[in-house]
Amino acid sequence: MITKIQKLDKEEYDIEELEEAAQILRAGGLVAFPTETVYGLGGNALDAEVSKKIYAAKGRPSDNPLIVHISNAKDIEKLAKNIPDRAYKLAEVFWPGPLTLILFKDSSVPYSTTGGLDTVAIRLPANKIARDLIEQSGIYIAAPSANLSGKPSPTKAEHVITDLNGKIDMIIDGGNATLGLESTILDLTMEEPMLLRPGCITKTMLENTIGPIACDPAILSRNPSNNIVPKAPGMKYRHYAPEGSLTIYEGKLDDVIKTINEEAKAKIAGGSRVGIIATEETKQYYQYGDVMTVGSRNDEASIAAGLYNILRQFDELKTEYIFTESFENNALGHAIMNRLIKAAGYHIVNVSK
Ligand code: TXA
Ligand code: MG
Repeated sequence: MITKIQKLDKEEYDIEELEEAAQILRAGGLVAFPTETVYGLGGNALDAEVSKKIYAAKGRPSDNPLIVHISNAKDIEKLAKNIPDRAYKLAEVFWPGPLTLILFKDSSVPYSTTGGLDTVAIRLPANKIARDLIEQSGIYIAAPSANLSGKPSPTKAEHVITDLNGKIDMIIDGGNATLGLESTILDLTMEEPMLLRPGCITKTMLENTIGPIACDPAILSRNPSNNIVPKAPGMKYRHYAPEGSLTIYEGKLDDVIKTINEEAKAKIAGGSRVGIIATEETKQYYQYGDVMTVGSRNDEASIAAGLYNILRQFDELKTEYIFTESFENNALGHAIMNRLIKAAGYHIVNVSK
């Protein structure tokens, strides 16, 4: 299959330019498109055969449900039932935006889209191209992140091309995904709402709108062997993984830098290629290996936005060992550490103990 690549200027395009992509989607094809979080791999959410094609293109296990993307908040009533008031409140405050709500599914949503579950994940993205595409196609778009299963989510069209060229009908290149981490997922099907995946909309932000919420204990588990099964099926897979071995160092920052320098020196002496994930504030202190700056410690959003791109760059360099600093575990740092810990396969070293 030849994958058509269409470049669009985020700020300045004509809605008609989305018609070809919309037609492909209506005809049951697959189109990757930008969202504010990461690129999505879209297909008709209400067509069971299309969800199967999405799983096949990504190489993704089919028990891992897809998020249904809508362009109008009212559409939750077409896709879900027994919708609690909280859903409307959250939609009002955070949509369009990086929040996915889990609700009881309507019978119109096929089980192949929900991975066999009676619930459905729904999101109204903020990215204009994404919303226009949903609108123009006239359908609801199921879209997982547009990466091969196990790879970091794509934050640029080039990442999608690397993973899916030749496997899908079209890729819309709309520039960088500005947030860089997947949406926050909140389950509203239980008495007490539960955070299933942390993201740019933080727990505190949600609580300010609907009161106390629980947190899936699997989110920040540091020990995969303690058998906590995450409620979001996708969170159980070793996601976001670079090809090299990634280790997180935590503790006092000076000690972290010192230890990373020692480890890097030793691995390089042994003939290995080493990469270091540094920050604006620390980059000058690293002496060995390929040092890449992910963002600034004073601006966690910059770290979120840069993380997946750096992991992919180390893959390209065939980096064998990647060492990273750790980050504050609150607010946006909660989401950053959640992804980093999984990318590291739970390999965390505390240097101050
Ligand atoms: O930001 C995002 O959410 C991006 C963009 C493209 O919108 N999409 C995304 O989709 O990250 P994906 O498929 O890579 O991740 C969806 C996550 C998975 O962990 C999946 O298990 C969970 O959502 N999920 C989907 N439906 C669910 C449901 N009914 N109950 C619990 N978890 C669900
Ligand atoms: Mg994904």
